[in-house]
Amino acid sequence: MSIDRYGVMGYPIKHSRSPIIHQLFAQQTAQQIEYKPMEVPPERLEKAVRQFQRDGGKGLNVTVPHKSEVTKLVDHMTERASTAGAVNTLTFRNEEIFGDNTDGFGLLRDLVVNLGVTIEGGSILLFGAGGATRGIVGPLLEMQPESLCIANRSLSKARPLTEYFSRSGPVTCCRFNAVPKNKQYDLIINATSAGLTGEMPPFPESAVGEDTVCYDLSYGLKPTPFSAWGKQHGAAQSVMGWGMLVEQAAESFRVWRSVRPDTAPVLAELPVSA
Ligand code: ATR
Repeated sequence: MSIDRYGVMGYPIKHSRSPIIHQLFAQQTAQQIEYKPMEVPPERLEKAVRQFQRDGGKGLNVTVPHKSEVTKLVDHMTERASTAGAVNTLTFRNEEIFGDNTDGFGLLRDLVVNLGVTIEGGSILLFGAGGATRGIVGPLLEMQPESLCIANRSLSKARPLTEYFSRSGPVTCCRFNAVPKNKQYDLIINATSAGLTGEMPPFPESAVGEDTVCYDLSYGLKPTPFSAWGKQHGAAQSVMGWGMLVEQAAESFRVWRSVRPDTAPVLAELPVSA
């Protein structure tokens, strides 16, 4: 019998940890799978996905910069993927493509299960209003926070996002410099892409208190600028998104293989910087 084939498409893809994470899941759950990284530039995305499907591939993860574009190729999309406007997990079955998004689920699981953060009734400040933000606002609002403020450099992206999600919960938006000075938030999430270039936007320090949890969707071998910022301003915890990475992968694995791997030992094997 041939081994079921999976992989991750992105551009670039060299530094992706997904292959090692999925190999560890496969070992742990005694599943026989192959999982390969595939570097695919945007103009070749459709061809590469269709080729993988024709060759009998079972599933793909899709990462930066393809998560939004790939929605055009799927035949069926889960509700969480269509709310996010992005797909990170493709399943190929009966010549059809099923699109799902496990990012929001992965973040929530890391926050709630791994880090013990209570979201219900809490105040959330979310930096950034791009694709990453759109993917996590829905799942965060489902946990019924008291408030969720999207703070961004400009309002042109933040406003439409806020309008879109306002039927799902108490969302507002503002510029960084208009974040209320007299309020400390329970949870501050960085979903800007600023860290990728090492930049540090003028995030409002007054938002961090001694009970605040700071969470960076970005991760690296060294502390990201935002995670260092959180620590510097006295947050109770300031963490990078390694846990989200492993949790979203575990949820993709579950979608494909109908078995949920244990994430703790896998997280422990990654070269995570505290
Ligand atoms: P992603 O899919 O990673 O969210 P994106 O859709 O391009 O990427 O969105 C990037 C987000 O990071 C945006 O909110 C962007 O702010 P703008 O809407 O003002 O462009 C934010 N961002 C990127 N670089 C930034 C920087 N140097 N300072 C502040 N915000 C930045």
